[in-house]
Amino acid sequence: MEIFRNQVVIVTGAASGFGRRISEKLATYGAKIIAADINFEQLQTVVAQIQKNGGQAEAQFLDVRDRDSIDSFIRQTTQKYGRLDYIFNNAGIAMGGETYAMTIADWQKIIDINLWSVIQGTVTAYEIMRAQGSGHIINTASMLGLIPGPLSTAYSVTKHGVYGLSRALRSEGKDWGVKVTAICPGFVKTNLLNTSQMFEMTYEDMMKILPYKVMDLDKAVDVILKGVKNNRDLIVFPFHARFSWWLSRYFRGLLNWGNETIISRYRQTKKTQSKVG
Ligand code: NAI
Repeated sequence: MEIFRNQVVIVTGAASGFGRRISEKLATYGAKIIAADINFEQLQTVVAQIQKNGGQAEAQFLDVRDRDSIDSFIRQTTQKYGRLDYIFNNAGIAMGGETYAMTIADWQKIIDINLWSVIQGTVTAYEIMRAQGSGHIINTASMLGLIPGPLSTAYSVTKHGVYGLSRALRSEGKDWGVKVTAICPGFVKTNLLNTSQMFEMTYEDMMKILPYKVMDLDKAVDVILKGVKNNRDLIVFPFHARFSWWLSRYFRGLLNWGNETIISRYRQTKKTQSKVG
């Protein structure tokens, strides 16, 4: 992974999960990591550990709901280091459950964090990288940016947006030397699901309806960094994500049927539970 040596890399959502492990691994490959997160205490622990292991990293408080802060953070980082080589627009949240139980404020929150922040990070980085004539923007979408997931409508909306943004801009950016990649993982073991906001659903309910085996984070990040190194347009993994995507393209009705079956079984269980309770 020599390609990452001395590269200036911004990672949002770096206090946990994907962002944390991407930062840690890239630092071992010699990259300079500028790690940002709303959870500053945890972020500082991550950065201190990277430094202790001999890596180069700094921590920046960032709430990605504040788009002006994203813009100034990226510009200040570029000014400080003289360039910006990679940006991982990765911070995100999940929401699960019945769409009828969500308010517009809930929609606003997930769109702000999962989509608007990625648009802002992309637009600012694109301007800088286009002027440089080089750079790579990596946006974390999801397999639910490729297919609809049961009882995760709002999340699917945001991730389809990230997917569309990244694919469309990739072709525009090519002539300017700017690379764009969308990451579309299936389910990976991080804190995302246990910190999700749920609507008429519990974490245990969510885990029961997941028809997939959750992937190990370390392996997932290896797949991501290999894909970024090879400048892939899309990084779709593991097998359950690639298979569901294939099903959605060629046997859409079957995927719809699968989702509908999961939803009606879930509702039936809830009804039985509430009668028992
Ligand atoms: P995680 O919960 O472990 O990490 C998310 C990080 O984002 C946390 O450190 C959190 O503090 C930060 N964050 C949340 N809101 C923020 C805000 N307003 N401002 C700044 N930082 C904020 O979850 P994970 O799984 O590492 O999530 C990273 C990305 O991966 C997300 O975009 C998620 O949607 C995506 N993803 C995750 C999958 C999974 O199965 N874990 C599958 C597909 C996509």
